[in-house]
Amino acid sequence: MPDATRTNAADAPDPQLVPGRLPLPLDWSEIFGRRAPLAVEIGSGGGRFIIGEAERKPDWNFVGIEPSGEYFYVMKERVAKRSLANLKLVRTDAVDLIASVFPDACVDHYHLYFPDPWPKKRHRKRRVIRPEFVAHVRRTLKPDGALYYATDHFDALEDALPVLREGLRVEEQSGPWPDAPEGRTNFEIKYIRQGRPIYRFVCRP
Ligand SMILES: C[S@@+](CC[C@H](N)C(=O)[O-])C[C@H]1O[C@@H](n2cnc3c(N)ncnc32)[C@H](O)[C@@H]1O
Repeated sequence: MPDATRTNAADAPDPQLVPGRLPLPLDWSEIFGRRAPLAVEIGSGGGRFIIGEAERKPDWNFVGIEPSGEYFYVMKERVAKRSLANLKLVRTDAVDLIASVFPDACVDHYHLYFPDPWPKKRHRKRRVIRPEFVAHVRRTLKPDGALYYATDHFDALEDALPVLREGLRVEEQSGPWPDAPEGRTNFEIKYIRQGRPIYRFVCRP
C-alpha cells in the first residue's frame, strides 16, 4: 500500500530545519505541507523513539530537537535513509526554540525522556525542566495535549516535580509505557535491562 509519509530518497525534503531560517511566525502546517497532530521530542538522542513514531503514525507530524552534533547527525542520517516526510529535525536547545518561535497551542504531545540531570544546584540553569520551560510547554500545548516525561534520576525528579506542578497536572504512569514495555528510547531500554527504577509521568495543561 502506498505510504503518504514516505517519498523516494531523491525527492525527500531535507529533514533538518535551521532555527535562524524558520519562516516566522511559525506555522507547523506550512512547514509540513499539511495539517496533522504534532508531537515534539526534546533531546531525541540518536532518534530511536521519534523515528519509530514517525513510521508507526503516518497521520502525525513529528519534530525531534537535539543540540548535540554527535547525536544529531546520526539521527539525521537515519531519517534520510527512511525518507520520512512527516519528521523534521532541529539541532538546537529545545527550551530556547520552544520559547522563541513556537506559537500558542500548537503541540499535541511533548516527549522528554531521560533529560540530563545536572544534579548540582549551580548547574540548575542547564536543566530542561525549569520554570520558563514549564510555562512555555503549557502555553504551546493544545488544551487536551500532554508532556510525557521519564527519568531514572531520583534527585533530579525531586527537583523537577514541583517545577512541573507549577504549570501542569502531573500524573505518575505506573509501570512501563503500554505501547513499549521494553522501553521507548535507547536510555529507557538500557535502564530496564539493568533493572534500574524508572519514573514515568504524563503532565497535562
Ligand atoms: C541522557 S540523553 C537521553 C536521550 C534520549 N532521550 C533517550 O532517552 O535515549 C539526554 C539528551 O538530551 C539532550 N539535551 C540536553 N539538553 C538539551 C536541551 N536543552 N534541549 C534539547 N535536548 C537536550 C542531550 O544532548 C541528549 O541527547
